Amino acid sequence: MTLLELNEVGKAYGAVRALEGVSLTVEQGRISCVLGDNGAGKSTLIKIIAGLHQHDEGSYAIAGEQVRLSSPRQALDRGIATVYQDLAVVPLMPVWRNFFLGAELGRFRLDVPRMRRITQEALEKMGIDLHDVDQPIGTLSGGQRQCVAIARAVHFGAKALILDEPTAALGVKQSGVVLKYVAAARDAGLGVVLITHNPHHAYLVGDHFTLLKRGRMAGSHPRSEINLERLTTEMAGGSDLAELSHELGRTDPKEHPPT
Ligand SMILES: Nc1ncnc2c1ncn2[C@@H]1O[C@H](COP(=O)(O)OP(=O)(O)O)[C@@H](O)[C@H]1O
Ligand SMILES: [Mg+2]
Repeated sequence: MTLLELNEVGKAYGAVRALEGVSLTVEQGRISCVLGDNGAGKSTLIKIIAGLHQHDEGSYAIAGEQVRLSSPRQALDRGIATVYQDLAVVPLMPVWRNFFLGAELGRFRLDVPRMRRITQEALEKMGIDLHDVDQPIGTLSGGQRQCVAIARAVHFGAKALILDEPTAALGVKQSGVVLKYVAAARDAGLGVVLITHNPHHAYLVGDHFTLLKRGRMAGSHPRSEINLERLTTEMAGGSDLAELSHELGRTDPKEHPPT
């Protein structure tokens, strides 16, 4: 089932065209990866999906209904949960408190034991091994925090989960753990948008791959039509790095034999 459908979406910040003609479909129980270098427009795309920004071209449909969201609340109410790179957590507050932030239980007095228990259960259900939900969330590793945020979205019944570069600041091992829970969210039936600039991470879990370059689509492939090697080449081809290496004259000597 199609949860989200963006068609030929465009967005400008004043004179800067951040996005142009970008299309993306998010299906239930599927992981849609959006790949691109810095400045490619990845964050702009998810800000449109999450209701932080509005598109000024093209269309955006949620569950078949055309929308133009004017607040993150509207996206949340439609079941779209977004996990930003700089996670909005209160570092000194316990894990369970962050888990229920903005959705606290208890009418007159916080029902602490219940929130604590539910947090523990929700994390366990996802297979997340956290001994003490009373520890301040600031003591968790970046990867663990991403995992808690994913479990939170699943627990509160999100239909679509948008993750902005969840592995960007992580090492190999922690990235693997986060990707495992991204897959767990998919298995729980959510439609996932995984933003990354790492083709290896994308290919580990992705069902569909959309490449962005300077705000435009540079490729869109279902998993069945692309392998890791081609995905990596597409990501690297025409990247700023390749251009820089050309400018610096550091191109492959096989291509340009010395004269
Ligand atoms: N709030 C903003 N105001 C002006 N320009 C912006 C803003 N946000 C992003 N941009 C510009 O839009 C382009 C795409 O940025 P962004 O969506 O953050 O890309 P990415 O997440 O892929 O690095 C960049 O050129 C960036 O400088
Ligand atoms: Mg970004």
